[in-house]
Amino acid sequence: MSKPFDYSWIVFAIIIVVVIVAYKPVMNAINQAREPKEGSDYLVGEEIFYDASAWGPENRSCAMCHTKDYTLSPNYTKVEMEDFTYVELKGIKKRFGVGVIGNPDKLLSQVNRCLSSPKRINGGTIAFANLKWQPLFAYLVRQ
Ligand code: HEC
Repeated sequence: MSKPFDYSWIVFAIIIVVVIVAYKPVMNAINQAREPKEGSDYLVGEEIFYDASAWGPENRSCAMCHTKDYTLSPNYTKVEMEDFTYVELKGIKKRFGVGVIGNPDKLLSQVNRCLSSPKRINGGTIAFANLKWQPLFAYLVRQ
């Protein structure tokens, strides 16, 4: 009694080889597709986030408290905001429930808290209709 030849290991081996060979180009293509495009909301938002005069007062940017690679306005030697401290922005989408079906109210309130406080940006508040909101939002939800 001879057993029928079992081809399944050959199929398995071919699958493994295909996965190994295809892995890098596929991952490269995926990463390239995820790279923010020039002029995208994300990149505009990033610029606003780092801009030390985006909100009126000089030498006050979101990045000063939320990144370690901020830059100062010309003629300033240090950050002068009273609340100056490092608060890492991480998992914003989840923390604020702003996924595809989420509600951005909470995130806008937090941004306005940082924006309006005289100890922080001291730049008033913004509404959803503000031209800066959409790009800033696109930037924040990827943190
Ligand atoms: C002077 C420091 C300072 C500046 C400038 C600042 N923030 Fe904040 N930010 C904080 C602090 C402190 C917290 C922690 C929560 C709180 O006290 O409001 C925070 C919290 C946040 C959070 C929530 C983080 C979390 O995980 O809960 C977001 C989002 C945020 N800031 C966005 C911004 C944006 C956008 C700007 C610019 C418009 C900005 N912040 C400017 C100090 C600052």
